[in-house]
Amino acid sequence: MDQIRIIGGSPLHGVVEVGGAKNAALPILAASLLGGGECIIDHVPQVRDVITMTKLLALLGVEVQAEGERVMLEASNVQSIEAPYDLVKTMRASILALGPLLTRLGEAKVSLPGGCAIGTRPVNLHLKGLAMMGAEVRVEHGYIHAKASRLKGARIDLDFPTVTGTENLIMAACLAKGTTSLHHVAREPEIADLCAFLVKRGAKISGAGTDTITIEGVSELQGAKHWVMPDRVEAGTFVMAGAITGGDLTVKGCVTDHLGNLFTKIQEMGVKLAEHAEGVRVRRTAPLQAVEVKTLPYPGFPTDLQAQMMALMSVAEGTSVMTETIFEGRFLHVPELQRMGASIEVDGPHAVVKGISALTGAPVMASDLRASAGLVLAGLAAEGETTISRVYHLDRGYERLEEKLGAVGGQIQRIREVA
Ligand code: EPZ
Repeated sequence: MDQIRIIGGSPLHGVVEVGGAKNAALPILAASLLGGGECIIDHVPQVRDVITMTKLLALLGVEVQAEGERVMLEASNVQSIEAPYDLVKTMRASILALGPLLTRLGEAKVSLPGGCAIGTRPVNLHLKGLAMMGAEVRVEHGYIHAKASRLKGARIDLDFPTVTGTENLIMAACLAKGTTSLHHVAREPEIADLCAFLVKRGAKISGAGTDTITIEGVSELQGAKHWVMPDRVEAGTFVMAGAITGGDLTVKGCVTDHLGNLFTKIQEMGVKLAEHAEGVRVRRTAPLQAVEVKTLPYPGFPTDLQAQMMALMSVAEGTSVMTETIFEGRFLHVPELQRMGASIEVDGPHAVVKGISALTGAPVMASDLRASAGLVLAGLAAEGETTISRVYHLDRGYERLEEKLGAVGGQIQRIREVA
């Protein structure tokens, strides 16, 4: 397994560019299942989760052709209804095949995604919504088996604004008979990007980005072209890389509104942010100050930036508090930060962080995608050398992160495992 080695202490300077959003690309690629006609998706990040999704779609019978950041898909001849365990277990977002397969073919058999490092990750709200649209849903032998000759429009009130749950139900409703109104839905920008793509294909959707989305079912969708929105989690990660190293970094393609209250919190810590045509310029001339953060559904502080923010808190002056309200197990990066000298006390969903003057480099282990990003930021600021193992977690959602950070002054390199 590859490792990443970082020598800390170099402030980042220059311009780093954000790629396409993984969490928008995944539902948009899955939406190809909804009908024939060529779909051309551009600005797709070349990350492992996207490769896994294209493998799943090809297995289901979609014609998939990937050329760099462009993926072409044609789904006239989808034959299989099954998303198998050995693929789904490598990427939970495979659950996004459920809604499209069911509404297109009348049946779907998708392996339960199961838990992961950050929590149990149930999908009960996905299944409850599909059942309310008339699907017969059984869960047995680790598989979700759903059937419906044709889904019917329904009013669905979500108990929690689940992101992929919202996406599954929107896609299922596109071909249902009648109108579906989804209430208390997730408002993450990736959902608006998915809806924009579906509307280009002929879907009738209103309310994207608000907490109520209405979909009027149509009989079929056509092909369409789409450019995937910039990855706001990658953007936020770069903003915090500039903040923690005390450099002068411009993050190109960063959309301020997409980052919830990250900017407010970062500025509270004493970081200077300036928006201009190129993107967002990040500078810090004084020590970081402590802050209190609580992760919330959008437009609150993104849980996907929680580990990265904890790296900043570790070296801020004063005592910070991080409260993780979305996932019950998302503090696996804490013991690794503690190995680097961080002073953190975890109490349930709260982590109390007493800032220290400097972290020290150490061998650490990545546990999940965003925890690995938090360890990279810590390594960039630490005194001495940090080596991060299990970087396959990082490769699931960040494209060439070490190259991008290296190009703006980070002393960071990938050590390829000799096969
Ligand atoms: C999406 O996951 C993202 N993944 C996650 O990003 C992100 O952290 C998460 O949303 C929250 O913003 C993709 O978009 C592919 P949820 P998702 O359903 O949809 C509970 C990354 O690093 N819940 O919004 O799986 C659940 O237990 C990944 O890119 C139910 O109880 O998250 C959790 O506590 C990590 N029942 C909360 O909702 C359900 O049926 C949020 O989950 C569904 C969810």
